[in-house]
Amino acid sequence: MENNNVQRDGFSSKLGIIAAAAGSAIGLGNIWKFPYITGIYGGAAFILVYLVCIALIGLPVMLSEFVIGRRAQKNAIGSFHKLAPKTPWFATGWLGFAAAFVILSFYGVVAGWTLDYVFKAIMNAFAGQSPEQLGDMFGGLITSSFAPIAWQWVFMAATAAVILGGVKDGIEKYAKILMPLLLVIIFVLDIRAVTLPGASEGISFLFQPDFAKVTPEAVMSALGHAFFSLSLGMGTMITYGSYISKKEDLSVTALQVTIADTGIALLAGLAIFPAVFAFGIEPGAGPGLVFITLPNVFNQMPGGYFFGILFFVLLAVAALTSSISILEVVVAYFAEDLNMDRKKATILATVAITLLGSVQSLSNGMLSHIQIPFLNQGSMNFMDWMVLLSDHMLPVGGLFISLFVGWKMAKGDVVDEVTNGGVLEEKTWTNIYLVLTKYVAPVGIIAVIANMLGFFG
Ligand code: TRP
Repeated sequence: MENNNVQRDGFSSKLGIIAAAAGSAIGLGNIWKFPYITGIYGGAAFILVYLVCIALIGLPVMLSEFVIGRRAQKNAIGSFHKLAPKTPWFATGWLGFAAAFVILSFYGVVAGWTLDYVFKAIMNAFAGQSPEQLGDMFGGLITSSFAPIAWQWVFMAATAAVILGGVKDGIEKYAKILMPLLLVIIFVLDIRAVTLPGASEGISFLFQPDFAKVTPEAVMSALGHAFFSLSLGMGTMITYGSYISKKEDLSVTALQVTIADTGIALLAGLAIFPAVFAFGIEPGAGPGLVFITLPNVFNQMPGGYFFGILFFVLLAVAALTSSISILEVVVAYFAEDLNMDRKKATILATVAITLLGSVQSLSNGMLSHIQIPFLNQGSMNFMDWMVLLSDHMLPVGGLFISLFVGWKMAKGDVVDEVTNGGVLEEKTWTNIYLVLTKYVAPVGIIAVIANMLGFFG
């Protein structure tokens, strides 16, 4: 059931595409998740593994998603139906569809914490609080039943509202202005953090690798997070690729987005770890790390009151430009392939995902006694379980995407898409990319998963 009469919405300008794709990539992954998992897995060595995953697997998978989407001019599931009719490849799209539910459900909860912190910042709630009190403040928020869910609903309603505004008016407009501003704020925080007394220990944590800390779980987490941070493995970049004009250079776009995303994550790490050590916070503190650390930094800087407000507002906006890209995967499928009214699809998907997230929010408090085992990685509450699940689903999705472009699509079609029908002369890069997508990415992903499951002893 396809509706070919629909005029597909598209991005209006070059900056629009990069801003929207970077807006999707840059979000809570960079500023909330990257620092906290870096803290858990021990710092510099983990970051190096992460960077290798980005370069050898993330970048080619991003280009592959763009290739699939722009070739097919369809959403994540429809693209596979169109490029490989009557084959099971569309299941890759389904996996992405499921991942969208998993990710957006917890994403909305964390974004809700961010909104609560905007409110706290406005109320000047951090002033005069010790690092320990700021830790309790965060614990108090996430374990309570009502407030985090209320904020989560506010955030999810905002996400749905942007999606209802359509691609051009909704996504582009917000991303273009505010992401550069976030970068500026993080820069200022970097300067404050590295000049704090006692910052040097945090700097060595970030730059002196200790490879003994790199466990198989750490490598899996680095790979999973490479996908999460670049918005890969789920069909987001397939869907966005379908909106990119035939004249754009997909490789350059993928490279720019990757560099911007990775740069922001590293700068966020540089704002956080020196402060973590300066204030005697536990680096492995987990999902609260950013929320506990940065208010301490705001307390130690001139104008900290305003920086605090601005930072959490911009973080919420960064989360919004990401969450809309996740919801868009679900809505584009409902609307295009099931011929559902876009408005109805948006409301349906948002309500279902939000309810799933609210249960996870309760798993930090009222329902924390329910501990769920995950493979060989111990037991945890429902929300942490879903975060870990996404770290495993996305690389599997990326594996199929790489195999699809590398082995299923005709080589001529792939080259045609990467070179814009031969207009772009990119011989060397095209060949490197083909090797990465055919061999390096799939073998790398399989090796990391097998290693994590203990196949290599
Ligand atoms: N990349 C975003 C972040 O870092 C989250 C995100 C948006 C995402 N779209 C996605 C993650 C698609 C995986 C797949 O916050």
